[in-house]
Amino acid sequence: MKIVSNNSELDSLVFEWKSLGYKVGFVPTMGALHQGHMSLVRLSRSDNPKTIVSIFVNPTQFNDTKDLEKYPRTPEADVSMLENEGVDLVFYPEVETIYPDKNLHEFNLDGLDLPMEGKFRPGHFDGVADVVYRLFSMVKPDRAYFGEKDYQQLKIIQQMTKDANLPVEIHSGDIIREADGLAMSSRNVRLSEDERMHANQIFAILKAFDSDKFQNSPKQGEKYLEEKLNAIKHLKTEYVSIVEDETMKEPDSLLNDVSYRICVAVWCGDVRLIDNLRFVISNNY
Ligand code: PAJ
Repeated sequence: MKIVSNNSELDSLVFEWKSLGYKVGFVPTMGALHQGHMSLVRLSRSDNPKTIVSIFVNPTQFNDTKDLEKYPRTPEADVSMLENEGVDLVFYPEVETIYPDKNLHEFNLDGLDLPMEGKFRPGHFDGVADVVYRLFSMVKPDRAYFGEKDYQQLKIIQQMTKDANLPVEIHSGDIIREADGLAMSSRNVRLSEDERMHANQIFAILKAFDSDKFQNSPKQGEKYLEEKLNAIKHLKTEYVSIVEDETMKEPDSLLNDVSYRICVAVWCGDVRLIDNLRFVISNNY
């Protein structure tokens, strides 16, 4: 496995692979890798003869400097996980390599960046779209893989790729969870033992949600979920949103056979966790 930090070395390897006719799959990450990341690596490995993983803690997407400082960094463990998984190249750039200039590339994100994470983390998605655009321009992948864990991010990357007319296919992977249901996240290691014990209630509460009961009043459903979540020790909701899967818009009522998603951001102590769950109300009559 090659570990590359400069752009010209990356460029010549990718050029060589492409001239041999190999398709290149790409998994962008911020490191502190876990099985959620690895599931995307496996998807890429099964679709492409070559897989590149980037590890770059992108400063421009952190609207909270404390969160950036506390972001876990585990380079040795990351490299050995990727090696065991058969990754071909790890791109480990310095900040200057990604940002030779500070000009933010802006995109028409079609309003997908306005609700939820966009509302509570101002500038976050501008940073994400810009860095992924920069990474795509350097790595030049044929296919790129993103997790549904960050569902709004996935939609935004799809829209950015379309808006910028980039020749990259965007693929998505399911949310990978711990045995008790907690969505895997690099931030989970920051939970205390007691917080970790209660954090699994986030998924338990989403899973138990009876969407049929709130078909005419999804707003009431959101309130109900907020109350349930806030009743758990350590948990404090930032938002609970029921959105249409495709558009991320909040519906006035829930239609049969349309795909919706409950998206939540919940503080567990001083760790901010996000999760989401898709649901469809089917007409069984
Ligand atoms: P990071 O949080 O490291 O996540 C990298 C990728 O792994 C993202 O596509 C994310 O959705 C996916 N992922 C994280 N946890 C997952 C889980 N439990 N199950 C499935 N997939 C999971 O997302 C970022 O980094 C950054 O914003 C990035 C796209 C790299 C841009 O800086």
